[in-house]
Order: sequence, then structure tokens, then C-alpha cells
Amino acid sequence: MKKQILVTGGAGNIGSHTVLALLENGYEPIIFDNFSNSNGAVIDRLALISGARIPVVTGDCCCLIDLQMVFKCFPNISGVIHFAAHKSVAESVANPMKYYSNNIVSLTNVMKLCRDHLIRNIVFSSSAAVYGESDQSPIVETQGMGKPASPYALTKQFGERVLEMAVEGGDGIKALGLRYFNPVGAHPSGLIGEDPLGPPANLVPVLMDAVTGRRPSLQVFGTDYDTRDGSCIRDYLHVSDLADAHVCALNHLFQTSETNYWNVFNIGTGRGSTVFEIIEAFEAVTNMKVPILPAGRREGDLREVYADVTKAKTILGWKASRSLALALEDGWRWHLQAQNGTTVPERGNGGNVSVA
Ligand code: UD1
Repeated sequence: MKKQILVTGGAGNIGSHTVLALLENGYEPIIFDNFSNSNGAVIDRLALISGARIPVVTGDCCCLIDLQMVFKCFPNISGVIHFAAHKSVAESVANPMKYYSNNIVSLTNVMKLCRDHLIRNIVFSSSAAVYGESDQSPIVETQGMGKPASPYALTKQFGERVLEMAVEGGDGIKALGLRYFNPVGAHPSGLIGEDPLGPPANLVPVLMDAVTGRRPSLQVFGTDYDTRDGSCIRDYLHVSDLADAHVCALNHLFQTSETNYWNVFNIGTGRGSTVFEIIEAFEAVTNMKVPILPAGRREGDLREVYADVTKAKTILGWKASRSLALALEDGWRWHLQAQNGTTVPERGNGGNVSVA
């Protein structure tokens, strides 16, 4: 019998890609989402891509009654992947309480329901942000957490600690924290991807907005860093690779005979790219020119952040397999589709993309 996996935040960007990866790998995902920062259309699109109707429960992880309902409707859940959280660093700085109350209460509620229903396998959506202001790349998991640079980062650190202590409590819980580096790209169909309610702030969507004229240019934040071309270095990975990491994480939890088990993993490519390298790679894939404006450093940015991914490879058997070029091509296809009235190019036809 297929294992049922509850995916909180399953309608979001990483959540929806993970739902597809779960289906492809013989799991039965159940989406639980309050659609506060995701589009209901994603559900039909998941059905279109997969040919499967995925059960969806609309509800909020901060509401115990909503969660109780989902566990009551689906009494055979074997594991939970907990994505549901607010994720804007800038918003968390402006409104920390919104982040503390939502991200922390949602996790503790999920854990309470897991305990009540004897569900032992939990994967937690964490972030490289837990390393704080570390400028020592490649970052290895043993490095430990640094001073959090934002309330968002603090909620991820807290979430990991809460899970770790629950595991130490000896209830037989097995849990993993996946520390994401910089996810980019989208599903190759161009049907699902990052769909933020407000204007994007991350590099790749901003770059694409600059190309389509939604903003005048891409500001390159800092051109005088001590790097090979003066711009910052990050570890950009395809969101589908990130989704696959969740499947490997679940497989690992189900296979491990250890109980009371906690572990954390970096999920990145292990390679760093500069901002200018991302621009060049995008231009090579699409034949489009990115209008750029060299700008001052952005407050809080670190010079170089990329992962050591040895641990995920060794223990989870996971490593990123999609290229940066593919991530940018797939992301571009999604970006055009999401903006309506645009042509959706097939893979490998990035150069023929046109904006209507
Ligand atoms: C940010 C978050 C991180 C989160 C990640 C998700 C911060 C401090 N960190 O990481 O917690 O997990 O997004 O993807 O916000 N850049 C430009 N021009 C732009 C936008 C970005 O030059 O308009 C540069 C930045 O200076 C940085 C790189 O692009 O060097 C990547 O930036 P971004 O996509 O915002 O990600 P991070 O800051 O690494």
C-alpha cells in the first residue's frame, strides 16, 4: 500500500514540486494549505501534470481544529513534510511577531498532532539562514548555527531545536531538517513555480522582471566584493532537485531502524555562482539581454555562501542533478507563463522565447 504523506504548505512553490516528486516515487501526498501565499490554480495544474487528483484540505496549521480535521479524514498518514511558513526575510524584519507566531505555532501544532496520532516521520523545511552571518564556505553542517540575521532565520533555528528536543524526549520521533540554499527554476511544464503575492526580491525573479520590462533594470547589489568578479556568490539549485531531496529524506526516515532520530542536511549544489555568472548564464540560455545597474551592497548580504553537500550525498543518497542553465530555462518558461499572454517554449528552445 502506498504511504500517505501530509504536505503542509503543499500548494506553495517548493511544496507543489515536492508533491509531484512524491507521486513519481510511489507516495500518496495530501496537500494541506491555507492558500495565504499561493494560488488555488496550482491544484488543477498539479492534476494536469501528474494525471492524478491529489487530496487537498484547506486549513491553517496555526488552527488545531483544522489540523485535527485533516488527521481525522486521513487516519493512515505515515509521515509529514512541513513547509507551511512565512518566508520573506524582509517582511520578517518589518513584522517579527507575524513570523514568530505563525512559523512557530504552526510547527508545534503539527508536532502535537503527530504525537497524538503516533506519526513518527517528520521532514522540516529549514534554511541555510540558520548558519547566520557565517562567511566560511563551503558550509558544513557541523559548523552549527550562527547569530540569526533576521526573525525568519530565528524561526528556522527555533524549529530545528524544537524538533531536536522532541526527538531527545524519547517518543520515538524521527525527524530531519533540510537546510535549503538558493532554490531557483520551476517545473519543466511551465505550469508551476514561484508565485509570490507581492513584488519579488530574490535575484532570479527580479532579473526576469527586468528582462520583461516590469522593472527598469536589475540592480547588482555590490560589485566590489572580494570574489572573482566583485559580486556575491550563492549556491543556486533547481527546485525540482530540492523536491527530490524531500523524497530521499522520507525514504531515509522510513528505512532507518533508529528511533528518536534527528539529523540536518545542507541541500544545495555545492557550487557557488556570482551574480554576474547568473546573468551570463541566463543570457546564454535565452538570448535575451539583462539590463543591469551596478548598485551598492545590500545590507545583510554575505560575500560568499555555498554548501558542502557531502552529508546529503552520503546519508540520503541525494545530489543535485540539474544544471544551472536548465534551472534558468525552466524558470524563464514559468515566468513567461505566469505573466499571461506569453509563449511557453519547449525545453531546449529558450532562445525562441517571445514576450507577447
Ligand atoms: C535570501 C534570503 C534567504 C532565503 C533565500 C531564498 C536574505 C538575507 N536571505 O537569500 O534567507 O532562504 O533568499 O532564495 O534575504 N541580488 C542582486 N540584485 C537583486 C536581488 C539580489 O544583486 O535585485 C543579489 C544579492 O545581493 C545576493 C544574490 O543576488 O548576492 C542572491 O540574493 P537573493 O536571491 O535575495 O538570495 P539570498 O540573499 O542569498
